[in-house]
Amino acid sequence: MPEAMGNIYETDDSISEYLEFHYGDEYLGVPNFPVACVQAVLSGIGDAPKRKALDIGCSVGRSSFELAREFEQVDALDFSTRFIVSAIELQEHGVRRYTVRDEGDLESFREAKLETLGLGGAADRVKFAQNDACNLKTHYTGYDLIFGANLIDRLYDPAAFLAAAKERLVAGGYLALTSPYTWLTEHTDKDKWLGGYKEDGENVTTLHGLRRALEPDFELLEQSDIPFVIRETRRKFQHTVAEFTLWRKKPERD
Ligand SMILES: C[S@@+](CC[C@H](N)C(=O)[O-])C[C@H]1O[C@@H](n2cnc3c(N)ncnc32)[C@H](O)[C@@H]1O
Repeated sequence: MPEAMGNIYETDDSISEYLEFHYGDEYLGVPNFPVACVQAVLSGIGDAPKRKALDIGCSVGRSSFELAREFEQVDALDFSTRFIVSAIELQEHGVRRYTVRDEGDLESFREAKLETLGLGGAADRVKFAQNDACNLKTHYTGYDLIFGANLIDRLYDPAAFLAAAKERLVAGGYLALTSPYTWLTEHTDKDKWLGGYKEDGENVTTLHGLRRALEPDFELLEQSDIPFVIRETRRKFQHTVAEFTLWRKKPERD
């Protein structure tokens, strides 16, 4: 990729919002979300093996770089080629410039720099690629950790992703998920929702749906809230609370 790429300001709204969300300022006193998620994962898995991790739905890659400080290899995948290209440019140049919207047509200039965030050293352990969580290529396998942040309620077939996660983890491997469970038919047909509906008059929550899909092959180890704030403009923010769940694939039985 030509060196000049590192100097171009990213102005696409969704990419800029995600660059700011992952690498930019903290807002409303809420800590950086990808960093908080990876801290929750690392404290949950303790001294478990850290050979290979999969960050699925990685967007512009902050959690992938954070995981690479601990894991020997991180495969970082997203459906969106534009997010992946942005992450690769940051990886290759160590810096990514972008603008954020202030009000109307007014913008401010920002810079994401891996070195400043202490992420320079391990960045080359991440392999970014475009791929589909619901139809993963076969060579994406043998993981000690699969991490999917705010992904399941954006998938067209979340159950297919969970089934693949089960297959692609080593025995005793970990699955870490976060989601605000904001099911929308524009992303997921209603018959594919994991929860957020009534069945025979009873509420089916997404946590219940996750248990149905994952137990008995997985045990639920942890469940907590992780808040996040996405800046839209200088005066407009999305403040959301995701649920973090950490699951462990049970060792194979003889
Ligand atoms: C709400 S964003 C979360 C991004 C990032 N994990 C985070 O927490 O900031 C959802 C991400 O999932 C990606 N995505 C949606 N459908 C996907 C699929 N089928 N396979 C892989 N990624 C997908 C989107 O491109 C987007 O980057």
